Amino acid sequence: MEHKNRQKHLVIFQPSGRRGHIDEGETILEASQEMGVDLESVCGGRATCGKCKVRIGEGSLKKYRIDSRREHLSPIEDTEKKFVTKHQELDGYRLACAARIYGDVVVFVPEESRTAKQIVCKPATKRAFDLKPAVRKCYVELAPATLDNPAADWERLQAELTKRFGLRNLTIDYQVLLSLQEAIRRGDWKITASVWMDREVIKAEPRFRERGYGVAVDIGTTTVAAYLCDLTTGEVVATESAMNPQVLYGEDVMSRISYAMENKKGLKTLNRVIVKQLNQLVREAAVQAGIKLGDILDMTVVGNTCMHHLFVGINPEYLGRAPFSPSLHHSLDVKARDLGLNIAEGAYVHALPIEAGFVGADNVGVLIAEEPYKQDKMLLIIDIGTNGELVLGNQDKLICSSCATGPAFEGANIKYGTRAAPGAIEKVEIDPDSKEVRLKVIGKTGWHTSLDTPGANGICGSGIFDAIAQMFLAGILQKSGRFNLDLKTPRLRTTEGQLEFVIAWANQTSIGHDITVSQADVRAVQLAKASMYAGVKLMVHRLGVKKLDKVILAGAFGSYIDKKSAMIIGLFPDCALENVYAVGNAAGDGARIALLNVDKRKEANEVARKVQYIELTTDADFERQFVQAMHFPHMEDGFPHLKQLLG
Ligand code: FES
Repeated sequence: MEHKNRQKHLVIFQPSGRRGHIDEGETILEASQEMGVDLESVCGGRATCGKCKVRIGEGSLKKYRIDSRREHLSPIEDTEKKFVTKHQELDGYRLACAARIYGDVVVFVPEESRTAKQIVCKPATKRAFDLKPAVRKCYVELAPATLDNPAADWERLQAELTKRFGLRNLTIDYQVLLSLQEAIRRGDWKITASVWMDREVIKAEPRFRERGYGVAVDIGTTTVAAYLCDLTTGEVVATESAMNPQVLYGEDVMSRISYAMENKKGLKTLNRVIVKQLNQLVREAAVQAGIKLGDILDMTVVGNTCMHHLFVGINPEYLGRAPFSPSLHHSLDVKARDLGLNIAEGAYVHALPIEAGFVGADNVGVLIAEEPYKQDKMLLIIDIGTNGELVLGNQDKLICSSCATGPAFEGANIKYGTRAAPGAIEKVEIDPDSKEVRLKVIGKTGWHTSLDTPGANGICGSGIFDAIAQMFLAGILQKSGRFNLDLKTPRLRTTEGQLEFVIAWANQTSIGHDITVSQADVRAVQLAKASMYAGVKLMVHRLGVKKLDKVILAGAFGSYIDKKSAMIIGLFPDCALENVYAVGNAAGDGARIALLNVDKRKEANEVARKVQYIELTTDADFERQFVQAMHFPHMEDGFPHLKQLLG
């Protein structure tokens, strides 16, 4: 119902980025329904199921130009307290169906409150490498202590480990030492020691224990993925992923740096939420694999430099200021317990090295997975995420850079953008003559026309790429990205002063209204892709490269996009399409490889220092390249491999 005289307030939902002005007094649940945000409401909003829990952002969030306050909602009711614990209440949790809006708010919808669980966007890719984990299990049988030989337990274990495994100068974790006597006696002097890097005993278990596990984590700006691996077989036994909860405090790296700088407890908050999320993912993965958290003996982490710093608790302030230097380049080994992570008590976390302020451990992960430094072909690696990272080169020279693409490629900040979950439009085809649209929707089989009712609820990143590429090929969009106003089709229209093209009519959706791609959506994609393309062009010039032999699209999103659509909109320069590969989450693969092979950790440190970082945004030519790259596919550059399509 519309309330004409009511005051309106700005509501921004995260991680979808959907924003809108909502009548005062409406509930958050009503707002989510109006804005097509995916939110559970099993009891239909009667505050009896507790499924609609959301978290309210607190503070002045510059990036969104909003002052979000918990007091901007109606006071918490007794009915809510049945589902919202005291701890959660302090953390800003509310039931969306009970909390009424009386001021501007940012609302974060946690994974468990979304109707559709995200499909695992970052599945592990099969890659070949030697199994040589940092932790090995060493079983020994000790001679029991006697009055004649009363040597101490630790020295006894140390001597046996030297004798059997050649391990010298071993140390023992303090907490493990505290329980060593007990473990030895419970095992009747038979014990399995888990030894880290041939240096330190990080776990001691009675009797023979063969299996040990490790977890590789990729902390993306928008998504976090965890791969639980069996250290004895290298097999991935469970994969879990979720949104990065820091999204609530800023959707990109710069806004998180600002949040950490401008809020007294900013760094602490950002660190706390990511550690909490990782603990949850690891717990879920352990349950899935049927193991105990204490069986997890090692962890490797990749992420861009800002995510890395926030995770380990380092102030990211200097990443946001020239010369943008990180706190450290080298890899880092920290006790998991010191970071607040609940795995084996003595276990370490290994954070991969960092290349530069804006090219982080995630890119090093991509490098050790793809190994461009061992190839003679000229390779371009594009890691598509909220923060795009680029690598160009081969065995002779490697350069890297980064560009702020924003979350548009992940479906956020696009009016009907959504995650790659059931109901999302993932593929689009447009007939160049009739301008009729065919869709593919996640969770529904086959293609759908306007006569079908596939129940779409939004468009995910790959759908947006397809939609824009197809709109361009069908003459709906001009090279400049503007809509072609000469077109006569009811799908092209103006709503609230904004031109938009209807991708799915209301009868094809589950949200009760049309799903469109607006001029602002097209602009958001243009800005992101132009930033990428301009970056690549400058790098190509720096290396004097004539042509690209191979383009690798990395990043979970990269494996879903249609490479032809990506080239049509001009995400990267011309290349034979058969030489464009989507390799999935290569950063996560790199974390997994480093988890399972210590030599790769060494290689990672070497390559991180070898690859040369190029700052592109300060390049005098960046602006010009960027403007040219705003066009589809480009203002001037030829695309011989698309000749047939582009005419
Ligand atoms: S919808 Fe059931 S408690 Fe809110």
